[in-house]
Amino acid sequence: MSRALETVTSDDASDPPATPAGESEIGRGAQAAVYARADGRVVKRYFADVARARIVWEFRNARLAYEHGVPTWRPDALSEDGRSIVGQRVTGETLSALAARRPWRAIALMGELARIHAHIHRLPPPPGCRRWRRHVKPSIVDSLAPHLGPAAIERARDLLLASESGFCHGDLSPSNVLVDGGRLTVLDWGRSGVGPIAADVGRAYAFILCAAPGGAPTPLPLRLAYRFRLAEAYLAAYLAESGRMRAPIAAWAAVTLAAAASDARRTAPSRALAQAALERVAAAFDRTA
Ligand SMILES: Nc1ncnc2c1ncn2[C@@H]1O[C@H](COP(=O)(O)OP(=O)(O)OP(=O)(O)O)[C@@H](O)[C@H]1O
Ligand SMILES: [Mg+2]
Repeated sequence: MSRALETVTSDDASDPPATPAGESEIGRGAQAAVYARADGRVVKRYFADVARARIVWEFRNARLAYEHGVPTWRPDALSEDGRSIVGQRVTGETLSALAARRPWRAIALMGELARIHAHIHRLPPPPGCRRWRRHVKPSIVDSLAPHLGPAAIERARDLLLASESGFCHGDLSPSNVLVDGGRLTVLDWGRSGVGPIAADVGRAYAFILCAAPGGAPTPLPLRLAYRFRLAEAYLAAYLAESGRMRAPIAAWAAVTLAAAASDARRTAPSRALAQAALERVAAAFDRTA
């Protein structure tokens, strides 16, 4: 497992790069700040603590997705020092902002998000593509022990180990998707690579449940029942589109939520939300084990 699979988001942003003359900041996440350029494009500048390899993979894999017709930004060039990417500016607001502003509209867009995700999982990984670590650490299964009965733990272990591998986005959260009318654009390929597809879907499900404004540690003020409607709309459409099973995805969602619920870098409301979502996901998994 990569570190990315152990936490829902990373809060380890360091000081942002200074805004160069002629550019204005239009977005910011935990890894980078994004600036509008005078030529109508954007430049994504990474914080100093982000590994160069991550930036290179973001560039290569965003390019791969773009060339295969996934709705994403067109990355044009990686800077010589490998610390920034220039590319197409995409219009729209984040899906997390839309969920706060127009909750029912966001639910209606979950099917499209799921179809895009299934499309991503059909992409051929580029040669030498980064792989998430293949083995499932015992600590990952142990993290579920307080929440599942013994039969469900064994079933979860089997499902986590058996996951089918493929090309994954790695960070498909509502703050990494821009919405403009009915058009969705997926951003942020810094955690993409080859890994367990069910983990990628389970993580997206957990990210939707824990939706927060981009880069912010505190969740949006959305009720848990609404969050589940949003996540279930996404998952139902994903299962229909891909023909995959729900159980391994639910196991990976529980792993992601368990990590978030005990992540000391998160705020108390963020951990409490992950814990509440985990209890519900675990109870449903337990009933079917
Ligand atoms: N090509 C683009 N066009 C317009 N806005 C963009 C573009 N890329 C990013 N943004 C804006 O900048 C924000 C941060 O970008 P991005 O998610 O790529 O950064 P990150 O630091 O890698 O995020 P994370 O915290 O998820 O790791 C996005 O939520 C979006 O609002
Ligand atoms: Mg992001």
